[in-house]
Amino acid sequence: MKSMKAKVLAVLTVLFLLLAVSFGVGLWGRTPRPEPIPLVDPSFLDTKTWRASYADLIAADEDVTYFDCYLCHEENKRLELNLDEQGLVILPEEHEDIEMGHGTHGRNNNCFNCHNPNNLALLESRDRHELKLQNSTPLCGSCHGPTYRDWEAGAHGRTSGYWDLAAGEATRLDCVNCHDPHSPAFPSRKPAPGPHYLREVKSPVGPTKENDHE
Ligand code: HEC
Ligand code: HEC
Ligand code: HEC
Ligand code: HEC
Repeated sequence: MKSMKAKVLAVLTVLFLLLAVSFGVGLWGRTPRPEPIPLVDPSFLDTKTWRASYADLIAADEDVTYFDCYLCHEENKRLELNLDEQGLVILPEEHEDIEMGHGTHGRNNNCFNCHNPNNLALLESRDRHELKLQNSTPLCGSCHGPTYRDWEAGAHGRTSGYWDLAAGEATRLDCVNCHDPHSPAFPSRKPAPGPHYLREVKSPVGPTKENDHE
């Protein structure tokens, strides 16, 4: 009886050893190694705003000499616009980095719709309020009433900070954090990639390889 038990154990041991060896050499093939998951482009994780406004540049202690209008312009002298036959502003070399295109057909391309011709360091809203260059949101609001109301209500733009105003302040991004005042149409951006399937999915629900952005 005892020897019978020993025999069975010996056979089982050999079987298990063979099985171990077969797994070791991969006799039945191996599970494919999952492909390394590519890292997400860090630009998608950046919470910085689309555009640094003048106020942001001042806060970050960056070089803002270009905003110092009276480095080049003459003070106490009304600036006249240099217009072509169609009434479009001809920009001098010093301002060639400004790309003017506000509205379809350049409806709002006149510099003095926003800048004060008598004091370039200030903005002037449509209802004739003088504003500092770093406080441009009420300027935009003076022409874009409905969007401004949406923005105030938190339905346009981005709100950060606290929902519970008793706990702290809610902060709203300025219009110029997202819109270039000179060419305000929001440029299209590449969408961030969808979640990565850890394994190959035979019939994926949701985004397929074709419309998966990298
Ligand atoms: C680096 C020098 C420089 C700086 C800084 C500068 N400008 Fe000018 N700007 C010029 C020159 C040069 C002209 C063309 C000559 C002129 O009209 O005086 C001009 C023209 C203009 C015009 C008339 C555009 C046209 O072609 O008819 C406006 C408006 C203007 N500037 C606004 C500003 C404002 C606002 C600032 C500050 C936020 C500013 N500039 C800062 C050099 C400068
Ligand atoms: C003097 C009036 C006026 C002011 C001030 C003004 N806008 Fe506009 N804006 C317009 C007009 C007019 C249009 C064109 C509407 C159209 O073409 O149907 C426009 C169009 C736009 C558009 C649509 C995109 C486009 O180019 O067609 C955006 C976005 C915009 N403005 C943002 C702003 C922002 C941000 C500010 C403040 C920096 C601002 N606007 C200040 C008059 C103004
Ligand atoms: C719709 C309003 C609007 C119009 C029209 C406009 N500007 Fe501006 N501009 C602004 C605002 C607002 C700022 C400050 C933006 C910021 O905070 O980044 C600014 C900034 C500037 C600056 C500082 C540096 C820069 O490039 O941002 C210059 C120079 C300037 N404007 C010149 C002009 C000239 C010249 C024209 C006409 C060809 C013009 N602007 C038309 C609203 C306007
Ligand atoms: C967080 C970013 C952000 C902020 C802040 C923001 N906008 Fe926009 N805005 C957008 C985007 C995105 C669109 C949609 C562009 C598109 O559809 O192509 C847009 C569209 C617009 C349009 C086009 C017409 C419309 O209403 O659909 C106007 C005008 C406009 N914004 C004005 C403003 C004004 C004025 C402010 C400030 C009071 C502001 N925006 C603040 C991102 C922003």
